[in-house]
Formats: sequence, C-alpha cells, structure tokens
Amino acid sequence: MAEISADIYRATSLLKSGELVAIPTETVYGLAGNALDETAILKIFKVKNRPKFDPLIAHVDSLEKVVSITSHIPDKALSLAEEFWPGPLTILLPKKSHVPDLLTSGLHRVAVRIPRHPLTRALLEEIEFPLAAPSANPFGYVSPTTANHVNDQLGEKISLILDGGDCHIGLESTIIGFENNHPIVYRLGGLEIEAIEKVIGKVKIYLNKSSNPTAPGMLKSHYAPQKELFIGNLEELAEKHQDRNVGVIAFRKKLDNLAPSKQLVLSASGNLDEAAKHLFGALRKMDQLDIDIIITEKLPESGLGKAINDRLQRAAAR
Ligand code: TXA
Ligand code: MG
Repeated sequence: MAEISADIYRATSLLKSGELVAIPTETVYGLAGNALDETAILKIFKVKNRPKFDPLIAHVDSLEKVVSITSHIPDKALSLAEEFWPGPLTILLPKKSHVPDLLTSGLHRVAVRIPRHPLTRALLEEIEFPLAAPSANPFGYVSPTTANHVNDQLGEKISLILDGGDCHIGLESTIIGFENNHPIVYRLGGLEIEAIEKVIGKVKIYLNKSSNPTAPGMLKSHYAPQKELFIGNLEELAEKHQDRNVGVIAFRKKLDNLAPSKQLVLSASGNLDEAAKHLFGALRKMDQLDIDIIITEKLPESGLGKAINDRLQRAAAR
C-alpha cells in the first residue's frame, strides 16, 4: 500500500525524480507526474490503464506557467482565468511545441488548470514543471474524492498519496475551449455553466456521448461503478426490480419499503453542492455493499445538478 501523508517535500522529491504521486485537488484526487517528461507521462497511462488517445490536464500554480506552455490565450479565456483560477475550470489552449504530444494525445491544444487546493498549490510552487494529473482511478471507474479511495485501487502501484482530506467539490473540473473564438464546454463539472456565462456570455455545450476515440475522453460509458446502475423514479424502479437485491442512491430521502442500510442520501436538505460532494463516494460505497444493482434518480437540472446528471448517465451506460 502507498504511504499516505501531507509531506509535500517528499512529494516534490519523488516528482523531480520522475515518479508519480497522487495529489488532492478541490475537485477530485489526481495521479500526478511531470507533464514535460515523456517517461513520467507513460507511467501515468500505465498505472491508470488509460488509452493513449485520452489526453491529460496540465496543472500549474500561476498564469506565468500557463504562458510558458501555451502559445496564445484568447481574451475570453483570460477573463475566465482571472475570474475562476485557482478553481475547478480547465481551459484548452494552443500548446507550445516543447509540450509533449503524448500529453495531448497529438492534439494541438493542451488542457490547463490552476487548482485551488492549498496543499497542491504549495507543491506546485516548489517545482518548476507543470503536473500532468488525470483523476487517480483506473480508467473508466469512478474518480476518487479521498486519499483512501486512491489507496484502495492504486495503492499497490504508487509510493505516495498526498493527503489533503475530502475533496470540497467532488466532481471533476468543467472543461472549456474556443473554436473561432466561440466558447465550447466539453465537460460539465465543478464550475457551473451559469457562472461561466455571467463572465463571457452564452456558451455552447458539446458533450460527446459516443465511443469515438477522435473525441477524447468524453466516452459514453465512464465514471462507472462495477454494478449496474438504473436512473428513474425510485419507487417505480424499486418495484420493477423487486426480485433483485437493490441498493439506492437517493437525492433527498430514502425509500420507506427498503432496508435503510442499503440506501444512501446525497443531500437531505436538497443542496446540489452537497450532493456533488457525496456522489462519487456513494457510487463506490454501493460497489462494496451486498447488493446486485443500484437504482438512483435524476437531480434538478440547475447548478451542479447538470454535471451530476451527466455523471449518472455515463455511469449507467454500458
Ligand atoms: O478536476 C479535474 O479535472 C481532475 C483533477 C485531478 O484536476 N482531472 C481530471 O482529469 O478529471 P481526467 O484525465 O480524468 O479528465 C480530463 C479530461 C479527459 O476526458 C480528456 O479527454 C480531456 O480532459 N482533455 C484533456 N486534454 C484535452 C485536450 N487537449 N483536448 C480535449 N480534451 C482534453
Ligand atoms: Mg478521469
């Protein structure tokens, strides 16, 4: 099992020697390595069992470091960076040529983000290179939101998990890019669309739900627990599947006629931010419980509810 500690000096020394370290961010835990070192990047793909057509996000602690790896920042991107960095927003920007093609899967844009978690920011300040960091889970599975989640699945393969506690947001960053100066959101995430639109006006949302590898990462089935998941009206689903051993992820309230120990509530007060924070932990918990299938319900389509529903749909896709 990996060492779990908050020792950023041990983390910097491992990273500087080309090793991987799991790091906390406000969204989810990442599996980090030197983003400019092809050997380190290859290790990330290997540990995650991730296909190389799925590019990685580069994490830095300052706009100067963003400028050092990108060739141009459109005005709207700059406005977003000023408003939301550090924070749960990833921006696709044209890359400089020294940024390895392996990092971007051969694409001309590199995904960049300044994360907000204090421990990881302190770590980034100690190193001069950006950190490539996909979510620290095996490819296709639910993202980790605690150090223990990382340890459960990748503990045998990495030596250090930097422990920054529970992730505050619990959903991956929102991803935005620009085509002919028009903003396009490619992944719904921890930063609400409403907040983005207040700064740069209307955005297009292009969420790929196919399994087309030219549209990296946004696979139809992703973020998925091992057990089959069904989304709909909870009472109706419970009745339909009454001959099976059912676990429930409810938004606000458990069902009366099923064992409470097999049910989890995302937010009793109906708070979408709280629901987002609990979602991935709940999916992981369901995989551990003695149940066969998971039933869950859609959340209201506002704020983080949109991103939560997107994750549920991908988790349900087979
Ligand atoms: O919140 C997050 O974004 C977390 C934390 C650790 O920062 N990271 C994360 O990374 O979720 P990952 O690798 O699990 O998801 C990144 C997504 C992938 O779906 C990938 O396809 C997309 O970003 N992506 C990365 N670079 C891209 C690029 N150049 N063009 C298009 N999509 C890109
Ligand atoms: Mg991921």
